[in-house]
Amino acid sequence: MGKLDGKVAIVTGAAQGIGASYAKALAEEGAKVAVVDVLDGAETAERISSEVAGSEVTAFECDISDEAATLKLVEDVTAKLGGLHILINNAAVFGTLQPQPFDEIDIDLWDKVQSVNVRGMLLMCRAAVKVFRPQKYGKIVNIGSDTILKGIPFMSHYVTSKGGVYALTRVLARELGADNISVNTLAPGLTMSEAVLAWGPEGDHDKNLVIQSRSLQREQLPADLTGACVFLSSPESDFMTGQYVAVNGGDCFS
Ligand SMILES: NC(=O)c1ccc[n+]([C@@H]2O[C@H](COP(=O)([O-])OP(=O)(O)OC[C@H]3O[C@@H](n4cnc5c(N)ncnc54)[C@H](O)[C@@H]3O)[C@@H](O)[C@H]2O)c1
Repeated sequence: MGKLDGKVAIVTGAAQGIGASYAKALAEEGAKVAVVDVLDGAETAERISSEVAGSEVTAFECDISDEAATLKLVEDVTAKLGGLHILINNAAVFGTLQPQPFDEIDIDLWDKVQSVNVRGMLLMCRAAVKVFRPQKYGKIVNIGSDTILKGIPFMSHYVTSKGGVYALTRVLARELGADNISVNTLAPGLTMSEAVLAWGPEGDHDKNLVIQSRSLQREQLPADLTGACVFLSSPESDFMTGQYVAVNGGDCFS
């Protein structure tokens, strides 16, 4: 028996990176999983299907900042996988960003980060509740970041967007409680996803500073996050909503 048997989950931004690890972990607990990304996630979906016996994992291409695309996505996932119970809002403009002073960031890039990381998340929530509300059940996990409490410099576009994720979670938890839909933020610390590993040796100084600020002083891996993701997706957390769950090795500032 898996913790998510009979459930259907969308994981956005799951073609690669931490999202692919969430998708695999949910599949291992018995959920049917939609691997959603603006990139082609077919290879990832096939890989997870072959690694997790008996799983049903399907790729769907979608730009989450496009309202019509999010509505169609939810219709397609529901039709193909037979329902929807869990939404992991993991997609974000993150790995492609370069550190820059706040007064030098191109304002169109600033808008792009907000439009995917906050507006896109809002649109995904709006599309998913069309299914969650009538069935009086749904689990939304918004992927935030512990950078919002640290105020990491030179990433103001990104950190501000993740502050929006924190705030949006609190509001939606209030608005959706009457429909028995829970909404929580899962906030990772700096995690060795493909994007972060690609920083190369130039990023070692920053990575070491983060490790030193932790109670558990080691690198954080995608696998460190999957347990919390499964918990926040499962009935075990049904009376938790509006919460900010940091998984970051006990960083002293967040
Ligand atoms: N890696 C870290 O250190 C870290 C720390 C804290 C929080 N996070 C958060 O965790 C999540 C995953 O991190 P990652 O390191 O795997 O990042 P990543 O940049 O490698 O992955 C983000 C994914 O989102 C997808 N995406 C981007 N725009 C999209 C759009 N408009 N529509 C659909 N998909 C889109 C990308 O194609 C990519 O696959 C992100 O929300 C990130 O902000 C990461």
